[in-house]
Amino acid sequence: MMKILLIGSGGREHALAWAISGSALTETLLIAPGSDAMAALGRCMDVAADDLDGLLALAEAEQPDLVVVGPEAPLVAGLVDRLTVAGFAAFGPSAAAARLEGSKAFAREACARFGIHQPGFTICHDMDTARAAIAATGGACVIKADGLAAGKGVVVAEDAEEAMTAAADMLKGRFGDAGATLLVEERITGPEASLFALVDGADVLFMGSAQDHKRAYDGDKGPNTGGMGAVSPAPRLDVALQAQVMEEIVSPLARGMADEAMPYRGILYVGLMLTDTGAQVIEFNCRLGDPEAQVILPRLRSDFVAAMLATIEGTLGHVSLRWDERSAVTVVMAAKGYPGSYEKGSVIAGAETAAGDDVMLFHAGTKIDADGTLRAHGGRVLAVTGLGRDVGAARGAAYGAVDKIGWPGGFCRRDIAAE
Ligand code: AMP
Ligand code: GLY
Repeated sequence: MMKILLIGSGGREHALAWAISGSALTETLLIAPGSDAMAALGRCMDVAADDLDGLLALAEAEQPDLVVVGPEAPLVAGLVDRLTVAGFAAFGPSAAAARLEGSKAFAREACARFGIHQPGFTICHDMDTARAAIAATGGACVIKADGLAAGKGVVVAEDAEEAMTAAADMLKGRFGDAGATLLVEERITGPEASLFALVDGADVLFMGSAQDHKRAYDGDKGPNTGGMGAVSPAPRLDVALQAQVMEEIVSPLARGMADEAMPYRGILYVGLMLTDTGAQVIEFNCRLGDPEAQVILPRLRSDFVAAMLATIEGTLGHVSLRWDERSAVTVVMAAKGYPGSYEKGSVIAGAETAAGDDVMLFHAGTKIDADGTLRAHGGRVLAVTGLGRDVGAARGAAYGAVDKIGWPGGFCRRDIAAE
């Protein structure tokens, strides 16, 4: 029986907290910083997810048997390295391996060395190089800030002029240091899907797929967001394609990273575009997605704590995961105005009646008053996950629950998993 410390406070971490607290291996769950809603599943500790010194001190004081890191920022900053040196078992990649998410240039160069299928790219530090690279694509290209930019550092340009403006903005410091280096990428087309894999430094194990919906409004209109909903399994990633991605992308990446003395240990999130010439890598993330965690973890029938331990111990080769055959659909309810400015504090009614046998409610940004009143406290506020025998049934379960929630200050997309 284990004492487990989970780092993070969002909807993804609520789903992780749910999976961890449901494990037969878990005795005590601590969450830093957690949230009011997560307090039902574990003891919340007032240390921020990016306060590495504070988290080390918390681990020293509490002596957890396992630390699980939810968000990318502390991974990229080296939290797992520091915990490991201090003698703790920590789930998530080292800072060196987390550069696959922290630096898009690093990820592209790694894929190029390992022979992984991806769009053409040029790494640029100045406008002259960027201008030439944009001209070479004919204008239909994608401009990306190298570093973490909270999902905002990517411009899919229609023509050379838009691309030049985006590149100039980034080089001028629009995203701070994250944009001091940028990539000009060949613009590829096709449906998108995400595949998740556990990687233990050597072996790899499929850990679910999902398709998210990044735009704010119905019909894929409006600004990009962190994700307004998702469906799992990803409808377009059939079993054959899934096996191909594991074999031609995940395995060579795991092998290459190990060969270059930065073995990847943790969960790898592979963002894919399914093009006419096969699946190509759009991006890697070094963690579960949000809301992908909320749509994938409810389908996992095996013990996720055991899987994380095997990942740390390097014994994934002996693990196989069982999955619920049903589909899952997650609908994100966000505060009106998100991803722009929005108000906090509006009252959400009926949430407690929405959850049920086939419906789970994960809180991304809420507060609970002393009298139990639930209030919005973020941009993305709730993730409502429905399970069903097919995508349509899962969708019905999710939206049926959304419709029980009375929140005039919020909105959601009505077309998640509709096509
Ligand atoms: P990223 O933050 O790298 O996932 O990029 C955000 C979005 O930009 C992706 O979900 C794609 O829709 C789009 N995108 C990124 N790279 C490319 C590319 N090379 N070609 C076409 N679209 C892209
Ligand atoms: N939903 C996209 C992400 O977590 O990166």
